[in-house]
Amino acid sequence: MQDVITTMREMIQDFHNPFLNQMFDQITHGKMLRSSMVLSIAPHNQMTIKLCAIIELIQLASLLHDDVIDESAIRRGKPSLNVQFGNKNAIMLGDALYAKAFFHLTSFPQEIAQSLSGAVCKLSNGEIYDVFLSQGFNASKEQYFLMIEEKTASLIASSAECAAILAGLESEGYLHYGKCLGIAFQIIDDILDITQSQEVLGKPSMQDFKEGKTTLPYLLLYENLPSLEAKEKLQNLCGKELSLDEKQWILDSMDQYQCIKQSQHLAQEIAKDSLSKLTSSYNPKLKEIINSMIQRSF
Ligand code: IPE
Ligand code: IPE
Ligand code: MG
Ligand code: MG
Ligand code: MG
Repeated sequence: MQDVITTMREMIQDFHNPFLNQMFDQITHGKMLRSSMVLSIAPHNQMTIKLCAIIELIQLASLLHDDVIDESAIRRGKPSLNVQFGNKNAIMLGDALYAKAFFHLTSFPQEIAQSLSGAVCKLSNGEIYDVFLSQGFNASKEQYFLMIEEKTASLIASSAECAAILAGLESEGYLHYGKCLGIAFQIIDDILDITQSQEVLGKPSMQDFKEGKTTLPYLLLYENLPSLEAKEKLQNLCGKELSLDEKQWILDSMDQYQCIKQSQHLAQEIAKDSLSKLTSSYNPKLKEIINSMIQRSF
């Protein structure tokens, strides 16, 4: 992973802009899930490390923009860049990182460049869809699943596909693996937003509902609440700063109807299907990645 981080640094070195460098220096690296997955599929050589660095630059750019969109103040355990330098600078650093990533993609086969640039389009579309859904009270699980497939699974799926192409493997099964991993990953992220503290997450907790987002546990709660009155109560709380009592009511009701358990179960079911289309030799690392992702606490 150190090689990936070093390569990322090398890729952005020629920003020739001390301010962009100063901002970039404030960023710590994340869990690097996408790189772990790529390195579990493709051989550890210079091209694979370069692919990982490109994907991590894209991931970082998407997070810089996401924190502006979500008005998030903390990222990777530190004040987010939008808080430190303002929205305008965070957006422009994000754009510069995307441009660097696409520049370096030009040295890869066209198939890889097209897959990853296509994934960034889907990711952006998913982020727009997320904003759109949060403007009202979304009660549709179908829309939620379509949205997370675009905003999160597209980049993970494309990363797996590109790693397979680099490795000379049949890519379809890997694309499916990445898609399942991505959907399950976002469900877990949405669960952790409810169940974990800010200290553990490195980002504020219970923010999604305040932003108007009905993630899977809220959708299941809405479905399970027995009375129209209770459903209306939940609807009215969405998109607001919640009091401690209101938060507790949500947590107790989720507990009563096992919404977190049901969500975890759904993520597990999706994870189980992830390896179903892999025809080439069995890769135990991919099973390990998806299992540890499901069991993660941050
Ligand atoms: C955060 O992704 C955005 C989501 C898709 C939930 P990660 O949780 O992989 O973020 P880092 O890169 O490890 O910080
Ligand atoms: C994922 O959504 C963001 C991207 C796909 C870029 P979230 O908004 O849930 O991610 P976090 O929780 O801020 O990391
Ligand atoms: Mg966010
Ligand atoms: Mg978001
Ligand atoms: Mg989240």
